Amino acid sequence: MTYIYFDHAATTPVHPEVVEAMLPHFTQNFGNASSTHSAGREARAVLNQSRDTLASFIGCAPSQLLFTSGGTESDNLALFGAAAARQSLGKHIITSQAEHHAVLHACEHLESQGFEVTYVPVDSTGRVRVSDIEAAIRPDTILISIMYGNNEVGTIQPIQEIGTIARSRGIAFHVDAVQALGMIPMDLSRMPVDFMSFSAHKINGPKGIGALYIAKQAKMEPMLYGGNQERKRRPGTENVASAAGFAKAVQILSRDRYEKQQNLEKLRNAMVAKLHQLLGPEQAVVNGHPDERLPHILNISFPGVSTETMLMNLDLEGIAAASGSACTSGSLEVSHVLKAMQLPDALTTSAIRFSFGIGNTLEHIEEAAAIIATIVGRVRNI
Ligand SMILES: Cc1ncc(COP(=O)(O)O)c(C=O)c1O
Repeated sequence: MTYIYFDHAATTPVHPEVVEAMLPHFTQNFGNASSTHSAGREARAVLNQSRDTLASFIGCAPSQLLFTSGGTESDNLALFGAAAARQSLGKHIITSQAEHHAVLHACEHLESQGFEVTYVPVDSTGRVRVSDIEAAIRPDTILISIMYGNNEVGTIQPIQEIGTIARSRGIAFHVDAVQALGMIPMDLSRMPVDFMSFSAHKINGPKGIGALYIAKQAKMEPMLYGGNQERKRRPGTENVASAAGFAKAVQILSRDRYEKQQNLEKLRNAMVAKLHQLLGPEQAVVNGHPDERLPHILNISFPGVSTETMLMNLDLEGIAAASGSACTSGSLEVSHVLKAMQLPDALTTSAIRFSFGIGNTLEHIEEAAAIIATIVGRVRNI
């Protein structure tokens, strides 16, 4: 049985070149980047180079980028840090109902600390309306947090428009770009964004490292206290090996991005076409925005076949897919994103997220689509 991994939005395999780039930093160049001796200086140089690589890929200065432990920490740091730094100006925050839990649960925590949060709705494609954001702004609004590309349905949000409004009203703007990195070209020097979150393990880098972009004028309190690392904004001994791995993953992305995107688009379109051919569009309903979407995520409902039944059967056939975000998979709860999109129950209870990446082929698509059609036929007959 071929094992088919269609869950690249949850995590990706580490690219062999990334592993190779990381290895010397465990045994040879293992110094503490804060030490003043030569081993420390060598580690510092690798850290600096890694930061330079990521900064030039996203169009910011290296000093505007700090390394974190991943997307969750970057989101938390941006929200808690900006809220703490700006609370004298007001205590109101705007986000959307379709954010990742790293933002939603951080917002809930802020509510318990006396902040007020408006969760703007999304339309049936998962997009926020800029007019809803505008209408939610109050004199005491200090922060807006909207994701770039949704991790469950792939819908891309109107970041530029929201950022322009935020800037004109003096409101800090955070963007969770964990799923968008490498999928949407971005130049932060031209974007009205104050904070942007990234994670390495979504782009064939190692788990446990991410980054947070902080614009020059943006104010942020740290969450951790300790040494002087990352200019005291995120203290703790730097994860040099992972930073080197993150940088290598970014280099590979900038080298292969065009081909990768074309390939992802091809795989996604082939999956939709094949499923529609085998089942018909009413029995394989694509969720999310038809055009404004990330190329690697396909959310599709098979009415009459519950998400759990489909996932279990796919797993038995050696196919890895997901019900939505990894944090909620395994639970019977309907995805908060599909709920926010107000899709009918027949679609929310039967949705599957397929997400594509390195290693996937058109043969995998053919094989998986045929298996899915068989599962659908079998379950419906029961
Ligand atoms: C949109 C989004 N934000 C944040 C995260 C959390 O990132 P990490 O797993 O690096 O903590 C994820 C991971 O699934 C994500 O998809």
